[in-house]
Amino acid sequence: MLRIRVLHGPNLNLLGSREQSIYGMLSLEAVDSAITKLAEELAAQVDLSQSNSEGELVTWIQEARAEYDGIIINPAAYTHTSVAIRDAIAAVGLPTIEVHLSNIYQREEFRHRSYISGVAIGQISGLGPTGYLLALRGLHDYLTTSKRRKPTSAQATSRGAAKGTR
Ligand code: DQA
Repeated sequence: MLRIRVLHGPNLNLLGSREQSIYGMLSLEAVDSAITKLAEELAAQVDLSQSNSEGELVTWIQEARAEYDGIIINPAAYTHTSVAIRDAIAAVGLPTIEVHLSNIYQREEFRHRSYISGVAIGQISGLGPTGYLLALRGLHDYLTTSKRRKPTSAQATSRGAAKGTR
């Protein structure tokens, strides 16, 4: 089963009440339920977390290396500022999709720059909560159709044995 970590950045805990004309009426809980429902249909496991802290997001990305096959992240405001989150994604090397509810390219100039897009396999911006669902489908396809999924430890061991490395 594919394991996908979904991370929401700062202020996304306020979804549903925060700037509704930009971010819509759905709460984060409702967005997370829709993601979980789709994951069940795709027979994938998703773990969803939100943090207002850059360091916590970095730690969760680092931890994902051992436990997950890919990451979906809406880094929110850290998109435009965080070299640390970019470096963490590059360091773990997991396929990552960047999601934004709003179209960041139609908004203020400072939102046009993403530090994350250069290390993500793709970015979805402007489609509201549907963006997370498309990201999940896209990451699922990416990981399953072309066998880009990490081998399980059992597979890695048997491959190592076949090559005579142990
Ligand atoms: C956002 C866009 C960011 O510019 C902003 O800081 C956010 C949310 C989005 O989902 O549209 O907090 O990532």
